[in-house]
Amino acid sequence: MQFETMAGLKRTHMCTELSAKNQGETVTLTGWVARNRKLGGVNFVTLRDRTGIVQLSFNDESDRAIFEKAEQLKSEYVIAVQGTVLLRTPENINPQMKTGEIEVFVTELRILNGAETTPFYIEEDIDTNDALRLKYRYLDLRRPDMQRNMILRHKITKLARDYFDKNGFLELETPMLTKSTPEGARDYLVPSRVHPGSFYALPQSPQLYKQLLMLAGYDRYFQVARCFRDEDLRADRQPEFTQLDMELSFADIDTIIELNEGFLKKIFEEVLDVKVETPFLRLPYSEAMDRFGSDKPDTRFGMEFIDISDAVKDCDFKVFSGAIEQGGSVRCIVVEGLGEKMTRKTLDSLGEYVKTYRAKGMAWIVVEDGGLRSQITKFLSESEVQAILNKTQAKVGDAILIIADTNQVVYDALGNLRLEVARRFDLIDKNKFNFLWVTDFPLLEYDEDENRYVAKHHPFTHPVDEDIDKLETAPGEVRAKAYDIILNGTEIGGGSLRIFHTDLQEKMFKALGFTKEEAWERFGFLMEAFKYGTPPHGGLAYGLDRLVMIMAGCDSIRDVIPFPKVQTAAEIMNGSPSEVDKKQLDELFIAVTAAKEESEQKG
Ligand code: AMO
Repeated sequence: MQFETMAGLKRTHMCTELSAKNQGETVTLTGWVARNRKLGGVNFVTLRDRTGIVQLSFNDESDRAIFEKAEQLKSEYVIAVQGTVLLRTPENINPQMKTGEIEVFVTELRILNGAETTPFYIEEDIDTNDALRLKYRYLDLRRPDMQRNMILRHKITKLARDYFDKNGFLELETPMLTKSTPEGARDYLVPSRVHPGSFYALPQSPQLYKQLLMLAGYDRYFQVARCFRDEDLRADRQPEFTQLDMELSFADIDTIIELNEGFLKKIFEEVLDVKVETPFLRLPYSEAMDRFGSDKPDTRFGMEFIDISDAVKDCDFKVFSGAIEQGGSVRCIVVEGLGEKMTRKTLDSLGEYVKTYRAKGMAWIVVEDGGLRSQITKFLSESEVQAILNKTQAKVGDAILIIADTNQVVYDALGNLRLEVARRFDLIDKNKFNFLWVTDFPLLEYDEDENRYVAKHHPFTHPVDEDIDKLETAPGEVRAKAYDIILNGTEIGGGSLRIFHTDLQEKMFKALGFTKEEAWERFGFLMEAFKYGTPPHGGLAYGLDRLVMIMAGCDSIRDVIPFPKVQTAAEIMNGSPSEVDKKQLDELFIAVTAAKEESEQKG
């Protein structure tokens, strides 16, 4: 086919900019053919661009050559047209379409490029497997729902830039080739050619640089920052992701929180037209764990934890009393009104589900009209059963789901059970946006594998002042001046006030098990810097992908990232990561020692 050029034609409108107001105007449009319908002597072509679709018409009044050319148009052909905007007759108005009142009668048609049959339809909500969508990501991205997601992402990023600019933030970039900072994940390393045997690390976040910018007097910093973490992928985790990152000098927690509540309020109102009430709830970490078993609780539904340890601590049922004896607890959730749906099969499958979270099983009591249905009441005295009913206030029709174990396992298993029950029985109102801050995190947590304390956030987080003395005596009890922002059960961001004195930073590294020499070797540049007049400072970073995912109503951040990675951290479309020439490796003094098969086996 002979293709044409756009010479002499200049686009006047995007497809959906046209309306009845343009009646009679001559317009020039460009885009892709979404459909070509031939109805007797009339041809209707749906033209698509980034904004949406508009109908083009060709009929017996058309120039013969143009009409015949229009008949050749196939899906995804790229065309430019010139024509006249006509009002549709009332019976032909399509209220579902933004441009449904009009059509463009084409007087000039240029076919700029053809297209082969695409491997899937370029339309919304396709039922195509993810691998195919990702292999042809450029076609997937052409689908209207993906384009909406990307446009939403752009709007949020743009609003963020404007909002933080208005509030005195400077947008500054920090290096991509840098030194490893401990943000908790494995680093992506980049070998240096000039320094054989030495490596840069790609930043897990701009954490230390943004602190140094505060030291340098920039007062307020902002960045749309790409971050890299070599960790297992999940629906809300990618090896390469984007933060809206900020840092402020001379600001307290309230200032940072209020500023960010203002930001979230603004983007929800401007982008989604959703009104957000501020201030958000602030939940101390210990209360979040006690009530929901999670430091990112989804508060769109109830089923909060009830501690029934007191009611069963002396019972003969060893699963309960034994757990309490060993310092654990017995807690439950009450599933209101769904007792009848809790068949033996459902209860057994929930029992299996909690085993994924290391619970040994799940006990249950269903309150029925004629009495209780349960596998455990036979091991309990009447007064113990009554005490459980009193404590839970369970009514006829309710089901009590119980886990007994160490507190950690109870939190984890019952917290996830709560989410699973809500999902299975559709108890989550998808139209709600529930924000909350989780505060007063522990500064450190004990890592059983490494046999030492590790930072719950990162090693630069300031401890709560009155807890500083406990850094040496009771590290596990020290609270942090840290806060996470949670939306619908997802951690969309986190931050803290930072340590800004050399001696406190040294103490922190000591609590993490570093010797003074090791700490200075790795972070000497920071502790040295702290000596030269460091202002108090703190900040926060959002996971932009997660924020956009929730605002777009998607279940995975993959749907809001133009070119994401799959589960194995590979990009299917271009086949990265890939092997490189021996020459390239030689220049870097690098030898690949593991055979490909071996590393694939290791997974
Ligand atoms: P943190 O590690 O909590 O804090 O990261 C901030 C936010 O980034 C998002 N996030 C991710 N999103 C997608 N894929 C990932 N692999 C991923 N990892 C994290 C989360 C998270 O809340 N420097 C600190 C911030 C600070 O203290 O100012 C930091 O990086 O939404």
